[in-house]
This record gives sequence, C-alpha cells and structure tokens, in this order.
Amino acid sequence: MTSTGQDQVRIEPFGPRHWPGLMRLYLRWFGAHAAGRFAARWQWQFASNPYVALRRPVIAVAVLGDEVVGHHAAFPLPLRVDGSVRTFLCSCDMVAEPRHRITAIPLAQRIASQGDVLASGGSPQARRIGSLLGLRPVTLTRQHLILTRRQGGAVRRMLRRRLPGFLRSFAGPRAAAFLAPMLRPGSARRSRPLPRYAGSLQVEPLARFGAGHDALWRELSAHARFGLAKDSTYLNWRYVDAPATSLRCAQVRDRGGAARGEVVFGLRAGLDDDLEPCGQDGEIFELFLADPSDGDALRALVGHACRELDQAGVDTIATTGLLRRWHAAFEELGFHRSEEEHRETWVTVGARGPSVQAVGDPDAWLVSAGDGDQAFTWTV
Ligand SMILES: CC(C)(COP(=O)(O)OP(=O)(O)OC[C@H]1O[C@@H](n2cnc3c(N)ncnc32)[C@H](O)[C@@H]1OP(=O)(O)O)[C@@H](O)C(=O)NCCC(=O)NCCS
Repeated sequence: MTSTGQDQVRIEPFGPRHWPGLMRLYLRWFGAHAAGRFAARWQWQFASNPYVALRRPVIAVAVLGDEVVGHHAAFPLPLRVDGSVRTFLCSCDMVAEPRHRITAIPLAQRIASQGDVLASGGSPQARRIGSLLGLRPVTLTRQHLILTRRQGGAVRRMLRRRLPGFLRSFAGPRAAAFLAPMLRPGSARRSRPLPRYAGSLQVEPLARFGAGHDALWRELSAHARFGLAKDSTYLNWRYVDAPATSLRCAQVRDRGGAARGEVVFGLRAGLDDDLEPCGQDGEIFELFLADPSDGDALRALVGHACRELDQAGVDTIATTGLLRRWHAAFEELGFHRSEEEHRETWVTVGARGPSVQAVGDPDAWLVSAGDGDQAFTWTV
C-alpha cells in the first residue's frame, strides 16, 4: 500500500472488492459500450492470455474510501528484439478522476518500475501515458492510412456534438449521408471507390492460425528487427479466441497449399462525444506476406478485406504500420495518409529493449493497429 501524499487516496493492487468501484469509474470515463464488454475482455486479457505464465499482469487502483478514483493495468505481450523474444508488459485502461489526477503518477510508476513496458493508443491522453511511463514512440506508427467509404459517421458525430440533446436522434445515418457532401467537402476525405482486384488469386477464410502461418511468419519476420512476435499462439489468442465477434481472418495459398499471405480485419464502433456508438469503422489489423514484394497477394487480401468491411456499412477503413514498403501499394488502392489521426506504439528503450536509434528507424519495425491495447475497447 502506498500513500500518494494526498492523505486518504491509496494505491493498491486490484482485488475483487474493488470491482464495483472500478466498474463505476470505467462507466463514467469510457461509457456504456466499453463498460458492458469490460468483464469478458478482462478475463481474456489477464487470465486466458498465454503470456501470463511468463510474466504476471499488474493491476493497480487508486482508492478513496469505497470509491476507485484511478486505475492502471498492464498485461504481458511478446516483443521481438533483434531475434530474441522478451515478454513486455503492455499498459492499458489508465484513468484517474480529475480531482485525483495526481494519482496517475504513482499508478504509472507501479507499471514503469517493472521494466520492459510498451503502450499504444491514438489520443493525447494515450501519449501522456506513454510519457508518464518513460517510453519512446516508434516512428512508423505515425503513418496511418485511411480509405473513406462514407462520410456519414464523421458527419453524425459532428451533428451530435452541435445539436441539443432532444434533436440528436435526427442525426441518423440517412440524414448524415445526405448532408455529408455539403458539410465535409474536403478532398482528402471524399468517398473513395472500393479497391478492385483483377487477378486470379482465391482468398479463403482462415479459421485458426497453425503451422502454415508459423512458416510464413519465419520468412516475413526476417524483414523487421522489432515488433510483437506474431506466431500462431499470439494470433489465435489475439484475434481468433478474442471476445470481439467481428474479427475475420483470410488467406491465399500457393500452388503447393502453403500460406502465401494472410489478412486480419474487423469492425470498430465509432463513438460520439458522449461515447455512444455512432457508425462503424473498419480496420485492417494485420497483413502477412511470405514474400513482402508479392503485390498480387497484397491486392487480393486487402481487396477482400475492404469488400467484406464495406458490406458491413463502415464509414472508413484504416490500417496502421505494417511494413512501410507496403504503404505505396495501399495508396494505389485508394488509401490516403492521415495526418490528423494516428495511432502510436510506445516502448521502453534501453539495455534489454530496443535502442533509441531503433525506435526512430521506421524500417526496423513491424507493428499494427492490433498491437498493444489500442483496439481492445472499441472493437465490435
Ligand atoms: C490518462 C490520464 C490519467 C492522464 O492524466 P494527466 O496526466 O493529468 O493528463 P491530462 O488529463 O491533463 O491530459 C493529457 C493530455 O490529454 C489531453 N486531453 C485530456 N482530456 C482530453 C479529452 N477529453 N479530449 C482530448 N484531449 C484530452 C490534454 O489536453 C493533454 O494534452 P496536452 O499534453 O497536449 O496538453 C487522464 O487524462 C484521464 O484519466 N483521462 C480519462 C481516461 C482516458 O482517456 N484514458 C486513456 C485511454 S487511452
């Protein structure tokens, strides 16, 4: 137990007695959509996570009487550092009530003091957490690619922000789609056609990752020195056995039946300022190619993911990181680089982690939107 210097607030390891207070805190800050999914995610992230056998999660709360006024946790993930795999702790669910914001510091210290930490996110708060933990951002993850299909989601969010409460229900999908060209005429955000794939490769659903993926991953991972160790154990836990239900995996195989390429994609809930679901966005979480220069497989897999996501009615389709050399191919397919929105991965640098030079070298990394916890909360 640690006093924060504010008489009554204590920093404690999480215990079952804290659960009701933690749920109230979570509901206040992350809204009903995320709070409703919290218990299932908790079980998956901290209990059925295969890496807890290698490194224990840290879950800390700031407590004032019966109330939980702050929370910060970290769960283990495998990070490849120059050929060897180390279990890092990934920061998640950091929140502190405004009157007790100071508790963010001792909560972060609990995690940072464990060493070998990583974090991810796309908001100013996430960046603040990275700096509280003493981490460095990986340069590549600022490069975020988006394909806009419909502008309805962004317009609905804008209308819901500006309209008084009793008029908000009028900001429905149809009204937003009709108003979008007038309200958001910006060329970078105009609706783009779906990527067309004119080749002959067959894309098939992939139920689970296995030896075929592990062989592909051995080839691909040789092209980046750092990133999560995305073998079949990691991918099955992260995407196949995850609580989110919209995640899909697909593959193309070569003539001999070996995995030539794979893609993982899914839906994220768009939220308005009141954290209410407001439209859906698509995300390409992972792309794997046995031969990174295999443009045919890239176009077939990305085209497939975009078509499937579009059928779900998404407003945008985004991807982050992957191999930097693939970005030009994504742009040819209609994606544009987003400057205003980006996702970041942060990591401890030092003796056992990547060096300062390594975090600044975009060609050294293979990271994605599915890394860390950035897609946990809102993935549908
Ligand atoms: C994460 C948190 C504990 C950090 O607290 P802190 O160290 O006191 O830092 P602040 O709250 O002042 O904010 C950090 C940055 O986020 C920005 N920010 C805070 N709330 C914001 C909001 N609702 N929308 C946009 N930006 C916001 C601040 O302006 C600041 O940016 P700056 O450094 O460029 O000025 C606190 O912001 C929090 O509890 N937020 C709510 C939960 C949350 O969003 N958690 C992060 C999930 S990824």
